[in-house]
Parts: sequence; structure tokens; C-alpha cells
Amino acid sequence: MANLVAPKVQQQAVSVTRKMSASLPGLRDIAAQRGLKVHHLGAGYPHPEVTDPRGFLQHQQAYFDHLREREGLNDPDVLPEYLREAYSYTDTLGPISARQTFANVYGRDWDLTLDPEKLIPTVGASGGINLICSIFEHPGQPVAYITDAPTYAGFTARVALCQYASIFSVEMDGEGPLPDGMRAQIRAAREQGFFVPFYYTVPDGHNPGGFSFSQKRREAVLQVAREEGILIVEDAPYLYINFAQPEDRAKPFFSMAPDQTVHLFTGSKIGFPGPRVGFLYSEAELEIAEGEKVPLSELALVESSSELLFHSPGALRGFEALLHEQIGDDFVERDSIWALAEDKLVVYRENRQILLDVLEKELGSYRDYFSWTIPGGGFFTVFSFLNNSRGSTVRTDDAMIENMVMEHGLVVIPMYDFYPKDARERDPGAGMNQLRLSFCFSESAGQQRRDDMREAVEAFCHAAKALVGIT
Ligand SMILES: Cc1ncc(COP(=O)(O)O)c(C=O)c1O
Repeated sequence: MANLVAPKVQQQAVSVTRKMSASLPGLRDIAAQRGLKVHHLGAGYPHPEVTDPRGFLQHQQAYFDHLREREGLNDPDVLPEYLREAYSYTDTLGPISARQTFANVYGRDWDLTLDPEKLIPTVGASGGINLICSIFEHPGQPVAYITDAPTYAGFTARVALCQYASIFSVEMDGEGPLPDGMRAQIRAAREQGFFVPFYYTVPDGHNPGGFSFSQKRREAVLQVAREEGILIVEDAPYLYINFAQPEDRAKPFFSMAPDQTVHLFTGSKIGFPGPRVGFLYSEAELEIAEGEKVPLSELALVESSSELLFHSPGALRGFEALLHEQIGDDFVERDSIWALAEDKLVVYRENRQILLDVLEKELGSYRDYFSWTIPGGGFFTVFSFLNNSRGSTVRTDDAMIENMVMEHGLVVIPMYDFYPKDARERDPGAGMNQLRLSFCFSESAGQQRRDDMREAVEAFCHAAKALVGIT
């Protein structure tokens, strides 16, 4: 067989989260051999208790039957239009009914009139990240993306695929990215000859930051973006996995400034990850060659038509079903997505409370040793080992992570890999004293889930105290 030669191809580094999930079965065996129970505080997956698709499949079938009746079809040999469409080629925008329904419901939730012609279907939020990067990447033109330190691993992984793309990262405090730092990074990138199209972030339930940005900080960030002329790419998987009271919730960027924002919606967390439903939405206009202005949504559409051609129409119609409620024999468009999210929130709210209660109970009196973020949304808290009076510093490196599994059956994720390269160059210790603890996933349901969650956090606290020498 001939050798294939690809001299320009580079092997990309595998992220810590992927390494962990790949090594989990082996670690699980080792833990079992040692008689340890595996405690899940690592995986960022939706909980199996709220992702059983059977109820959804029944609902979807009933909705499709309703569409068939609406078409006035009684003859079972006649193919209904919705079914023909679900398995056919569509144009890149996909079925208008799915986009129109989503525009209505999402628009009501966020006080915005969404134009369904600007809703570009994507393969989850991951597809949205890919799409927005692709628009700005052209061979030979160096491009710099601004993002947080730390940032979502899927974003850094996507950026690494383009040899012309670099990340300029911005440090965060408890409210969000530092606006002055952001402005300085945009300017530094430009001075070095990079084109700077956007700032990428996850303002609600930051992954992996474990907190939500304050309203004030969002406004400051928006002002920097406006003054410097860059877009904000708002990745919003946890917008509805929100633990704040309605009156305390900060506004997503796209409801504050749809012309400055590229909003990435995904159905993965409020529905199911499997159907890969997502939308990119923006009302931004870009100046392109010769001063011509074009809507970003048109550029995204052209890019997507060559990348994807079209999203699964069946999956989009299924999502449309999810956005309808059955009332008697009829189906009516939901008023809001919040009610859908509530089914999921019951589990995440409980798990989060158990995590925070146990951390407080076990470690609350050792505040000079440990700190942790309070997640306003999402699936994670960041746990930090602090420099303490005994001078001992815990390093959360790969050896420590492996030891947590081998000695305690604890699966946790180190933070260092979430810091972009430039952040680690600025501070080689970035993330080296931090862990990402997740409260979204376990293998059990109901009371057993609650018990497992409590046990996992207790085991973690026990291990953390042992690591710093508290007995
Ligand atoms: C911040 C963030 N963006 C994107 C994704 C991927 O989502 P999707 O399933 O929609 O591709 C995740 C998943 O965990 C995430 O946390």
C-alpha cells in the first residue's frame, strides 16, 4: 500500500476532558479492583435522568400525526408533506416552520423580534463555533480571537485547526472578563498585524469558569466591543440552566445588542444533544471588500451551504415539536422555553445545592485553604487550593488527577488545560491550583442520585483536606 504523505498536517493536542473520558473505563476498572466507588464530578454531560428520549419520541409522533391531520390526509398510502420533507434535501436554512416557531418562542423569552431568515441552523453550538470561525479564516490572513482565560475547550480546539488563527486571552475576576484587559488585547493583536473579528465567551454558566457574568460587566464588555469594532460571540448552552431568580438574571448580549452579537443557541441542554439542533443568530452587518455592507447572517448562510449543505430537516421538525404543547387533541406553540427547562432544572438545582451545602459544611471553616465559585448557571464550579499559612501548595496536575481516581475513586477535571497558551505563557501557574467540579452527571436517578452526589462531594472534601494536611 502506498504511503500517504501530508507534510502540512499536524497532530493536534487532545484536550484533558477528552483524555479523561477516554481513560475513564480503565480508571473505573482500577477503582473497582481497589474496592472504590467511582464518584463523578468530572463529566459535563446532561444528566441521564432528564435525557430519557422516550417521552419526547411519543410527543413528537403525536405532533407529526397532528401535522398529517392538518394536511387533511386520511389515506394512509399518501405520503404526508412533513414526512417527505424530513427525509429530503432542503435549502440551507431548513424548514421555515421550525425557524418561525423558534423565533416566536425565543423572541418572547428575550424580548426581541427574531427574524427567522437570519436563523442559521447549526450542528449544535459546536457547529456554530465552527461556522463563525470559518467566516473569518482565510489562508494567509492572520486572525486573532479574543476570549477568556480560562475558556471553553471546544473553542480552543476549533481555533487550533487553523494555522492562521491565534488566541489573545483576557483574565477574569468574579464578574467576568476585565474590560481594560480586553481592550489591551484587541489593540495588542492589531499592533501585531492580526485582524480581530470577535470576542468569544459563555456569559451564562461559564464553562469552565463556573459563574455567570454580572449585568454591569456585560455592559462594560459591550462598550469595549462597540468602541473597538468587534463582535461578541455569545455561546449560550446554559442560558436556561439558570439558578438565579428571574428578577436577578443578567441579560444575554444578543438581547442587549443584536447588531453587535453573534448568538449561538443549542438544543443540547434544554432538549437533547443527539439531534444536534442549534442556531446561529445575528443582526450584525459587516463591511466587506470595497466598503460594501452585508448582513453577517448572509455570510453565515453561504459559508454553511458549502460546509454543511443543510441540517437534518427531521431533527429540526422534532425540535419544533418540542416547542409545542399538547392540549387535548391540539398542539399550541409554547409561550416560553422556561417551562421546558424547568423539567431539567429540578435535577441540576438539587445537585448544585447538595454540592454547595457539602462544600460549605466540610470546608467552610477552612476559607484560607480553599475557595470555590458559586454557579449562577450551568454545570460547574471551579475549586481552588489557596496558598495557605502552612505554605503548602497543591498542584492540580495530571499526576494529582490520576491519584484522585486511584486513591479516592474521584473523577475531577484539572483547570490548566482550559487556559489558552498565551495565558499560560503570562502565568505558568495558571489553573495549576484549580479543578473543575461538575454537578450535572451521575449514573443514578432519584434518591440514589442525591445520595451519590452527596457521597461524591464528601469524598472530595475528605481528599482535599488530606491534600493540605487537615486531619
Ligand atoms: C460552552 C459550551 N459550548 C458548546 C458546547 C457544545 O454544545 P453542543 O452540544 O451544542 O455542540 C458545550 C457543551 O458542553 C459547552 O459547554
